[in-house]
Amino acid sequence: MLGIGLELGASTRGALMGPDALRTAGIAPMLANLGHRFADRGTLREAEPVRVDMAPEWAARCNHLAEIGGWTRAIHDRAHAMSKGAGGPGAPVPLFVGGDHAISMGTISGVARACAEAGREIAVLWVDAHPDYNTPETTPSGNMHGMSLAFLAGDPILAPLLDGSRPLAPVARENIHVIGARSIDPGERARLRAHGIDCVDMRHIDERGVCALMEERIARWKERGVHLHLSLDLDSLDPSVAPGTGTQVPGGATYREAHLIMEMLSDSGLVGSMDLVELNPFLDERGRSAVVAVELIASVFGRTVLDRLPDARRFA
Ligand code: ARG
Ligand code: MN
Ligand code: MN
Repeated sequence: MLGIGLELGASTRGALMGPDALRTAGIAPMLANLGHRFADRGTLREAEPVRVDMAPEWAARCNHLAEIGGWTRAIHDRAHAMSKGAGGPGAPVPLFVGGDHAISMGTISGVARACAEAGREIAVLWVDAHPDYNTPETTPSGNMHGMSLAFLAGDPILAPLLDGSRPLAPVARENIHVIGARSIDPGERARLRAHGIDCVDMRHIDERGVCALMEERIARWKERGVHLHLSLDLDSLDPSVAPGTGTQVPGGATYREAHLIMEMLSDSGLVGSMDLVELNPFLDERGRSAVVAVELIASVFGRTVLDRLPDARRFA
């Protein structure tokens, strides 16, 4: 686990305390009890601002651009180093804990570069109330946590967040999957449609259920043998379940829907790296969102209510 204390991608302060809240909520004993070897690599607490070579008209629409550029490069380097041999059998699974969702510009670009070097295809599952597919052209807020997935897909305006010494290996559009969406800005929606991004909104979940939707996607990832990166935004959950987050949207995943996504991913054995983002302890109620976050991570890493013997596992 690497904690990443970046909160400037959001307009609300407090997400920098996310990694410490997760520790207080017991992430280490939880994973140890599941039989994992857990290593806490501490928290990245600062990054030098950099000059990002972006056209001024677009730079003006990116809040804290120099800071986010510095963070993205520093996070990218750490994530890349932690992902050497990404996805290979027995390889460690990096868990990146934010911080706001802007951390994923560094985490996933670092993982994607390691995958490219290892000749592996990467797919991203973005579990979120928001697709974060805005660019400086479409953003209503200027908040860069709303642009991270667009950057990872290779948007040319955002590309200069990384510099020439850190080549961006964009995630292919057909390997980007959003689930849980229910707040999408008009320009963002047009981009998702134009790019053919697989975006499962809450109505899809209501109508078809998490199980069927996940089975289809897992079958596809298995067929392609991808390294799957799970990017879990805590605001994907309904605010009644996880209030400790800065951009709440009603009508989110229930506690069980969220766990079922994690459990099915665990059974699939596909998750090679993971982000947990947008936990804001300043907005939480007696730590309950941090506890929910630890429980969801536990489900990703194999916690089950009853034993699920390997031959009973759907995707083993
Ligand atoms: N779509 C909105 C924006 O661009 C909200 C994004 C919220 N993103 C997040 N990672 N919580 O400002
Ligand atoms: Mn997000
Ligand atoms: Mn979100």
